[in-house]
Amino acid sequence: MLVHAIPTNVNYEFAAEVRDGLTREAQKELPSKYLYDDVGSALFEVISHLPEYGLTRADERLLRRHAGEIVDRVQGPVAVAELGSGSGRKTRWLLEAFCRRQRVSYYPVEISHSALVMCERELSDIDAISIVGFEREYLDGLLEVAAYRKPGQYLCVLFLGSTIGNFDRTAGVKFLSEVRCILRPGDSLLLGTDLEKSSSQLLRAYDDELGVTAAFNLNLLARINRELGADFDLAGFQHVARVNEEERSVEMHLLSKRPQVVSVPGAEVVVEFREGETIWTESSHKYSVDEICATAQQAGFRCEVQWMDDQWPFAENLLVAE
Ligand code: AVJ
Repeated sequence: MLVHAIPTNVNYEFAAEVRDGLTREAQKELPSKYLYDDVGSALFEVISHLPEYGLTRADERLLRRHAGEIVDRVQGPVAVAELGSGSGRKTRWLLEAFCRRQRVSYYPVEISHSALVMCERELSDIDAISIVGFEREYLDGLLEVAAYRKPGQYLCVLFLGSTIGNFDRTAGVKFLSEVRCILRPGDSLLLGTDLEKSSSQLLRAYDDELGVTAAFNLNLLARINRELGADFDLAGFQHVARVNEEERSVEMHLLSKRPQVVSVPGAEVVVEFREGETIWTESSHKYSVDEICATAQQAGFRCEVQWMDDQWPFAENLLVAE
């Protein structure tokens, strides 16, 4: 697989965002995209197998069950771009269905190098596929993919796994609008969205019994230690999942168990924590089916079809650029 990777100033950006997020007067925060280094991506892969966390399996079930129907509804010939491919396991069903119709170029866009490598290993055996990976932020990668487009070719963008949920609702509309700007009328976006569910189900899913989600969250501090030379004592922090009723989201935080001071030389900052103070590391917003259509419309898409899982509230939404 070709991996397009120009050296980006990732480390510099990481340092700047860590500095910015940890020096907030009020709520300290760290961007959730930094959860996914090699260790974090591997831990998320484990989370997706946990009985309490049904999201990924629901996504995969829907794609497997409806692959034929989805592909029939997408205007071709297409090139397929995926934003955040992860391991690529659940994408197989769709790509196989597309490849029964035509030769397909598949462009995974992913910030995790190890996930890109896994994805190509997982999918390269499919007949009639060519894979070109982009180690990029979503919109940067999608812009490059769009530049590769051949005359008469449509783009089908996959944004699965409810990654959209990491944006708050306003930022979600903005992101979808930006995707729409890169697309042309008739292009499609297959959007996976986790639906609203009870607080108790959410808390179990985001604070599992084995402690894998806790490790996934704490790895962010371990990563700052590794990459920015910080001295976070991981035992001094605790993973917390909280339901935010107003935002209809579940949040992950890292709670300081005692007053402590941490230095982060790579970000040129020393940070004080009060006992009980938290770093907010992720939000996962949950949607209603009607809301998804309204959101899509605001962003310049028409909602073509929605498929819902019967075991875990989750929807696959086929949106078409207008
Ligand atoms: C990969 C962003 C969809 O929000 O459910 C899983 C990440 N965080 N457990 C989610 C996650 C904690 C996940 N997404």
